[in-house]
Amino acid sequence: MQMFDIRKKYLEFFKKQGHTIIASAPLVPENDSTTLFTGSGMQPILPYLLGTVHPSGTRITDSQKCFRAQDIEEVGDNRHTTFFEMLGNWSFGDYFKQEQLAWMWEFLTEEIQLDPNHLYFTCFRGNEDLGIPKDTESASLWQNFFLKRGIEAKIGEDPERNGIRPDEKIFYYSEKKNWWSRSGIPETMPEGEPGGPDTEMFWDFGAERELHEKSLWKDKPCHVNCDCGRFMEIGNNVFMEYKKTAGGFEKLAQINVDFGGGLERFIAAKGNNPDMFLGYIFDTLRTSVESLAHKRYGENEEHTYAFRVLMDHMRAATFLIADGVLPSNTDQGYVLRRLLRRAVRYADILDIAPQSLSSCVLALVSEYENAYPYFSEKEQNIVSVIDREEAKFRETLTRGMKELEKRLGGGDILNGIDAFELFSTYGFPLEMTEEIVKEKGGKIDEEEFKKEFMKHQDLSRAGSVGKFKGGLVDQSEISVKYHTATHLLQQALREVLGKHVFQKGSNITPERLRFDFSHPTKMTEEQKKEVEQIINQKIAESLTVTFEDLPLAEAEKLGAIGLFEERYGDTVRVYKIGPSTDSEQAYSLEFCGGPHVTNTGELGHFRITKEEACSAGIRRIKAILE
Ligand code: ALA
Repeated sequence: MQMFDIRKKYLEFFKKQGHTIIASAPLVPENDSTTLFTGSGMQPILPYLLGTVHPSGTRITDSQKCFRAQDIEEVGDNRHTTFFEMLGNWSFGDYFKQEQLAWMWEFLTEEIQLDPNHLYFTCFRGNEDLGIPKDTESASLWQNFFLKRGIEAKIGEDPERNGIRPDEKIFYYSEKKNWWSRSGIPETMPEGEPGGPDTEMFWDFGAERELHEKSLWKDKPCHVNCDCGRFMEIGNNVFMEYKKTAGGFEKLAQINVDFGGGLERFIAAKGNNPDMFLGYIFDTLRTSVESLAHKRYGENEEHTYAFRVLMDHMRAATFLIADGVLPSNTDQGYVLRRLLRRAVRYADILDIAPQSLSSCVLALVSEYENAYPYFSEKEQNIVSVIDREEAKFRETLTRGMKELEKRLGGGDILNGIDAFELFSTYGFPLEMTEEIVKEKGGKIDEEEFKKEFMKHQDLSRAGSVGKFKGGLVDQSEISVKYHTATHLLQQALREVLGKHVFQKGSNITPERLRFDFSHPTKMTEEQKKEVEQIINQKIAESLTVTFEDLPLAEAEKLGAIGLFEERYGDTVRVYKIGPSTDSEQAYSLEFCGGPHVTNTGELGHFRITKEEACSAGIRRIKAILE
C-alpha cells in the first residue's frame, strides 16, 4: 500500500481542471433543521444545483465530512463506518458527460494508478415510459477509454439475469440502480425535485470473493451490483439534468454534474483490500488501539469486531466533538453519547485500561491535522470531553452491570420494570440494555418498559423519551387523545401514500403529536389534505375504540400493524378503532399498550401543522387537535 494522499490528489486534480476547492461543511448542518447530520457531499450543495449562484463559480470540488447515525449498528463488518469522507466535484450548468468521465478515467487510472482491469462501470438503461433515453454516450465514453489502454470492453445488457459474460466491463441497469435524486428513483420523486441518470464506478476485488454460499446470492449470478463482496462501488457520476413535473420529466434550466466518491473506498481499491479498516487512513489509529489493547488487529474474530467498532466510533466522536457537539441526552449530543458509551464497552472487551481510550485522539489528530488544521488546537478539549464522558459512564456502568446481571438472574428475559430502573437509576439507555441483554441471548419486555416509563411521567427526560417508540410522555387527557389520533394518522397515511408506511417513532406532548414514518418523499399539499379529511371523517363517525388481547399469530392474521419483532410473549394487545366488535371490520388495528380514548368523537378537529424530512427515508408529521 502506498502512503500517498488520495484526498489531496483528487482536490488538486480537479483544481487543475478549473475547480475551486471549498472547505467541508460542518457535520452539524448550519441551515437545515430537518436533519441532525450532514450525510452526503451534495447535501450542502443542493441550492447551487437548483440555480443559486455559487460565490466560487460553476466548478467546485471538496472532501465533505459525512456522518450517518443510522449505520451505528452496522459497524463491525469490513466496510461499514458511521463517519466517512465523500470526495465531490460539481458542474453548475458548466461541463457535462464528456469532460466528467474523461477526468474520472484519468484520475483513477493515471493519478492514483488503479489497474483498469479491475474497473467496471454501470450506465442507465433508459425508460421509454419516463421519456428518458438510454445513456449510450457514457457507455461508449468508458468503452473508448478502455480501448486506449488496449482493453476491449464489452457491454452487458441484462447483468441481473446474465451475470458477467467474458470481457464485459460496462453494464446497463434500470432506474433502480442508475438514477440518483435525494428521494430515490423517479417514481418516488416529488414534483419539482431534480435528479437524473448516473454512471457508477466499481472496483473488482477478484472472483474468489464471490460469496455464493450466502443464501442471499445463492443460485443467482454475481454481477457488479449484487453485494456479494466481490465488487465495491467507489464513486457515482450523476447527471442532474431533469426535474419532475406533474406531466413527467422536464430538462432543468441548468444541467449539472454531481459526483460523489468515498475516500476510504478509493483507498480500499488502491490497496486491493476490501477491509476498510486496513486502509492507510486507519494505520495510526489501529496501531494506537493495538498498543492500548496489547493485541493485534485481525487475530481473532471477536476482537476484530471490537477493534472496528472502537476505531469507527472514536474517529466519528473526535470529528463530532471537533465540530462542537457535546455528549447530552438530546439530538446530536445523544448520538455522540451513544458512540462514546459503546466505545467504552468495546474497549473493555479488548481489555483496554479504563480512562486510556482518549489517547486514541492523538493518533487521529496526527492522521487528520493536515486536512483539518483545526484538529490540533482542539485536541485537548476533545480528550477531556471523552475522558469526562468515560468517567461518568463508568460510574454507572459498574453499578448498572451488576444490577442487570442480578435482575436477569440467569434467565433471558429482562422485565420492563427492571429495564426502566436501569434507565432511570443507572442511566442505561434502553438500546444499550437491549444490546447487552441480546449479547447474552435474551430479550427485554419493551412494552412493559414503555408502560413503566409512562407511569413515571418524567417530562424532564423528554429528549430521551423520543428515543423509544411509544413516545407518549404523559397520560393527561389531551395526550391520550393525541395517542388515538396517532393510530388514525398511521392508517390514513397507509391509505393515501401506500402500504410501505410504518411508524418509525412517535412523541406526544399536551401541545401536539409528532409522528415519524417510512416514506421516501415530501408529501404534496393534496396528500396532506386527503389525510386530514380521512381523519376528520373518522372522528365525525364517532368510532368506538376497544382493545383485545390476542395470540400473536391471530393478531398477525388479522393484519394488525405494529412492530412484531418487538413484542414478546404469546399474547399481544391489539387496539381497534372501528364500527363493530368484529376485528375484520375495524378501521385501524394496531399492537399497542394504550391508553386511548373510548370514542373518536372526543378528538375534536385534526390538523397537520408540519411535514418534513426526519432522516433518510423517514418523514415527520406534526399535528394538532383543535
Ligand atoms: N450525490 C451522489 C451520491 O451521493 C453523488 O451518491
